Amino acid sequence: MATSSSLFLLLSLFLSFKTFAWGGNFNKDFDLLFGDDRVDIKEEGKSMSLTLDKYSGSGIISKNEYLFGRFDMQIKLVPGNSAGTVTAYYLSSQGSNHDEIDIEFLGNLSGDPYLLSTNVYANGNGGREMQYYLWFDPTEDYHIYSIDWNSRRIIILVDNIPIRVMRNRQDIGVPFPTKQPMRIYTTLWNGDSWATRWGKVKLDLSNAPFVAGFKNFNANACIAKTGEDCKVFNGGQNKGLDSESKQKWKVVLSKWVVYDYCRDFRRYAHGLPYECRKDNVLPVV
Ligand SMILES: *[C@@H]1O[C@H](CO)[C@@H](O)[C@H](O)[C@H]1NC(C)=O
Repeated sequence: MATSSSLFLLLSLFLSFKTFAWGGNFNKDFDLLFGDDRVDIKEEGKSMSLTLDKYSGSGIISKNEYLFGRFDMQIKLVPGNSAGTVTAYYLSSQGSNHDEIDIEFLGNLSGDPYLLSTNVYANGNGGREMQYYLWFDPTEDYHIYSIDWNSRRIIILVDNIPIRVMRNRQDIGVPFPTKQPMRIYTTLWNGDSWATRWGKVKLDLSNAPFVAGFKNFNANACIAKTGEDCKVFNGGQNKGLDSESKQKWKVVLSKWVVYDYCRDFRRYAHGLPYECRKDNVLPVV
């Protein structure tokens, strides 16, 4: 009995193996989204640069759709005067009522800090921004930015330090992305209508072309195909934060958060979103 069930487990693990992705390659795993040769893939797919010039930005989209997983990307942001540029690394489903998990870097004038902006959409509902300054200059070197997504929580990390942890609160009626497979997008574009100092500082084209570098993309994720069950994968990924990560996360929360929708009493003058209300906030485990 024990033997046959463990055999079955091994067999199902083996079968589901094919639907799991490890590693990553810009040639193999992505298609051009826009910008033609402004997308420059190098080192046999290990690295890539995106360019924004006066005609266009650029971006790529993953070939696969994923349902849960951890997605790491090393990024070196546009240096110098990057005001008005938006470098985005995000997951999104397609169609109406979409789900989305965003990391966006809003550029700035030379010497002024980049803003890392995060947001989560579920079933078309967004408005859950949290924004951060970084504790390093993100234009000097590559740093690892990660989205770790399962049915119970979303964790966004910078150099393996959690900066945002979002629990699934469907139990109190808060939408959470659990059903729609998503693709990975990486883009660089002109967002100067809103990005820098709320749109006041525009892109300075005399600094063009703007270039951002990307490398070592890594997906440890379940590839969603009809009839495949990504919950198996998800099960193994439901661990919470260990105490060291929790400690580091708390430091980020106390030092680096610039904006938190859960504290925007002006925007939510008639009451904070459910998940932000005192009685509903869950301890992180
Ligand atoms: C740009 O720099 C200004 C001044 O330090 C700061 O207030 C702002 O948050 C920075 N980032 C963006 C995207 O505006």
